[in-house]
Amino acid sequence: MKIIETIDKMQTEAEKIRLSGRRIGLVPTMGFLHEGHLSLIRNARESSDTVITSIFVNPTQFGPGEDYEDYPRDPERDIRMAEAAGSDIIFHPSAKEMYPEGYQTFVTVEKLTKVLCGLSRPQHFRGVTTVVIKLFNATKPHLAIFGQKDAQQALVIRRMVNDLNLDIEIKISPIIREPDGLAMSSRNTYLDATQRKNATVLYRSLILARQLIESGERSARRISDELVKIIAQTDGAEIDYVSMVDTAKLEPVQTLSGEILIAEAVRFGKTRLIDNIILTV
Ligand code: PAJ
Repeated sequence: MKIIETIDKMQTEAEKIRLSGRRIGLVPTMGFLHEGHLSLIRNARESSDTVITSIFVNPTQFGPGEDYEDYPRDPERDIRMAEAAGSDIIFHPSAKEMYPEGYQTFVTVEKLTKVLCGLSRPQHFRGVTTVVIKLFNATKPHLAIFGQKDAQQALVIRRMVNDLNLDIEIKISPIIREPDGLAMSSRNTYLDATQRKNATVLYRSLILARQLIESGERSARRISDELVKIIAQTDGAEIDYVSMVDTAKLEPVQTLSGEILIAEAVRFGKTRLIDNIILTV
């Protein structure tokens, strides 16, 4: 497996792969890999000839006071795990390589980034779209894979790819969960034992929403009241948002019909967790 640390070398290698007629699949990550990331790598393995996994903790998507410095990092372990899951190349640039002095260009998706996570993290998606397009330019993929875990991110990236006519196929992979339902996340390592136990309330509340819909409930307000109730009853849980939106524009729905995204963000101490479910009503 190759480990590449500069954009120049990555572009040269990607060009060589393209010229040889092979299909490049990219899995962008911020490292500290878990089964969620590995499922994306395996997914890429199945639908491309050369799999590139990028590992880069992207400073521009963290707001002031967020966890950029504390974000867990273990590149050596990541490299071993990515290779075992089928990655051919690791692209692991430094922050200076990606954002040298004088850097000042950003890509912004306007509307979709103003709701849900965008409300409490106003600069977050601008950092995500910017780094993702830079990763695309470095690795020249035919295909890039993202996780449904970050539902809004996936939609924002699809929008950017469409709007800017990028010739890249985007695939979204399902959420991988711990046995008790908690969605896997590099940030789960921040949770202490009690918070970890209580954090299952995110998934439990989404299952409750599904049950309410299955039993005929169609009022978004009544369902969200129930979800808020069980989350608020959980020790240490502080709700950022619980939202029911359509899956195209992320606009709130009042009466559920069609494809609905139920998304939530809940804080346990300093740790902000997100989860979601898509239901067809
Ligand atoms: P990161 O949080 O490391 O996630 C990398 C990719 O793995 C994302 O597409 C995310 O949705 C996916 N992922 C994370 N947890 C998952 C889970 N439990 N099941 C399935 N997929 C999961 O998302 C980012 O990094 C960054 O914003 C990035 C896109 C790399 C840009 O910096």
